[in-house]
Amino acid sequence: MIIIPGPASYDLGMKVAKLLGEKLVPVEFKYFPDGESYVRYTEDVDGEDVVIVQTTSPPQDTHLIQLLLLINAAKDLGARYITAVVPYLAYSRQDKKFRPGEAVSLKTVIRLIEAAGANKFVTVDVHNVEALKEFKIPFVDLSAMYVLGEYAKSCGFGGAFSLAPDEFASSRAKVVDDVLGGGYGWLKKERDRVTGEISVAKKVFDVQGRDVVVVDDIISTGGTMVAATKLLREQKARKIMVMCTHPLLIGGAKEKIIRAGADSIVGTDCVPSDVSIVSIAPVIAEYLRKGSRGA
Ligand code: R5P
Repeated sequence: MIIIPGPASYDLGMKVAKLLGEKLVPVEFKYFPDGESYVRYTEDVDGEDVVIVQTTSPPQDTHLIQLLLLINAAKDLGARYITAVVPYLAYSRQDKKFRPGEAVSLKTVIRLIEAAGANKFVTVDVHNVEALKEFKIPFVDLSAMYVLGEYAKSCGFGGAFSLAPDEFASSRAKVVDDVLGGGYGWLKKERDRVTGEISVAKKVFDVQGRDVVVVDDIISTGGTMVAATKLLREQKARKIMVMCTHPLLIGGAKEKIIRAGADSIVGTDCVPSDVSIVSIAPVIAEYLRKGSRGA
């Protein structure tokens, strides 16, 4: 197996290769003066099982095209089996038509990854795993929730209450609760499809004087975590740790969440950022070690 670290996930790719004891093959990347991406394999991949690690966090479109170039070049060069490891899958939230006439962006992204030549697709805590059924190739959705829970526990959050921002994410809070053991629950969140504004219904939790971990797949603008944190502060929670797999942290999200009353924000290196404290590398490496070929 050969691990190819894409430019958006170079460090993560290196960690995965190291954990597996497999060969890491760096690829030459550059940008043309007009902004187009260039990719060149510097070693032979003919007949090899190739694992490409490239997240598609912002700038999504650039990272996505680099991923497609990497997959397609590996195929052209004769790679035997190509596994695309895409820790954060861009466009995954636009997985259906919410309003008439909208593009189903995720469907287009899936078609592109397949057409480029991937034989298998691996991602982490995708927004809605059901939407991945659009893939005709085998796919898997790994989870960061256990390692996030372990991290929270190592910070003294054992016995903390785990909270998800909506019922859809409650299964994520349950996994964290399996580690922390303080019970879990979820909020009722609504987003205005036009303005993007978040509101949460008043719901009372057993959090007074207790530590709480709020978990979600993505922190984007931070609106969801701000609303959750404010509610927990009103209910006199003690320490609040806000956690997510994909810390996109757009436009001052981090500062907004801290101002709302969170004590810390923790994410994973599925999306590199200054809060990406927990590495997803062991989760990916374990999956690949068990043998990722086939379904
Ligand atoms: C969507 O439902 C996701 O699970 C997240 O809750 C959402 O993407 C967070 O977005 P924001 O940080 O902008 O509220």
